[in-house]
Parts: sequence; structure tokens; C-alpha cells
Amino acid sequence: MEILAHPNPALKQRAQDVEHFGDRELKSLVTTMARAMYDAPGVGLAATQVGVLKRVIVYDIDEGLVALCNPRIVESSGETEFFEEGCLSLPGIEVSVERAPSLTCEACDIDGSPVIIQAEGLLARVLQHELDHLDGVLIIDRATPEERRAAIRRYNEVVHTFG
Ligand code: NI
Repeated sequence: MEILAHPNPALKQRAQDVEHFGDRELKSLVTTMARAMYDAPGVGLAATQVGVLKRVIVYDIDEGLVALCNPRIVESSGETEFFEEGCLSLPGIEVSVERAPSLTCEACDIDGSPVIIQAEGLLARVLQHELDHLDGVLIIDRATPEERRAAIRRYNEVVHTFG
């Protein structure tokens, strides 16, 4: 399945909660998303990016595949940090994004069992990035107006160059 790229309007939509767990549809969505993420390759992907407006994310930070449904950040702590982030929906550019360095995320697995994740470093950043996607927020939306304009200019150049 193709990963949607900015400015596809689906990327601006808020995804809906998963209500039915453990069914074939959800498992097949997660399989599709994982394949798209590994093919890209990337470290995380939100369902929104394959055009499915459900609150599902997958990630693999070299510790195996994790799929989460209805993830929410219940606590974040530490002094926020800026770091360059890329996004599979904005190929070719990076934007400096301010994020919390550590957080607690509550979610469900694909069978509906509750999961609590204490995250810091890369994982904390990946979770915040993917949760943003579920709310229709991209890294360019996290930038200052000036940075956003520059990032979109670079992005349009990249898209123009590579077709
Ligand atoms: Ni992204």
C-alpha cells in the first residue's frame, strides 16, 4: 500500500478510536502498515498515512514491531528538546521539532488488552510524532511560520526533482 504524501487531505484529518479489536480487519491493517513502514523504510507509521482514519500506529525502533490502538499520552516530563525529524509523508525534508524527552503512553494492543509504555529518547519522539498524525498534525505544523515556509519550499523542490 502506498504511503500518502503531503498535501493529501487525509493527512489533515483526525482519526477515530478503534472500537472492534482482534478482528481480521484490524490485523490486516497492522500487517499492511508494517509492510509499508519496513519497505519505506521508516521507524514508525500511523494508519492515517495509509488513508485509514483509525487510531492505530506501528513502530519498530530495532526492538521488534509494536502496534498500538487508541494511544494517548497521559504524562510527559522533562525539559523539551528540539531535534530534526523526517516523515514518510514529507519525503526528502527534515524539520526541527520540539518534543518532551520522556512520557507515559496508554494504549491497547490489537486484541484490546491495555498496554502502558514508559518512553524516553527516540521512542518518546516516535510516539509523539505518530500520535500527531492521528490528530492530523505534521512536522511542518510544529514549525514556526518561517520554518514552515522554508520547509515547504524545500519539499516542493524535492517533489519537483524526483517527480
Ligand atoms: Ni510522519
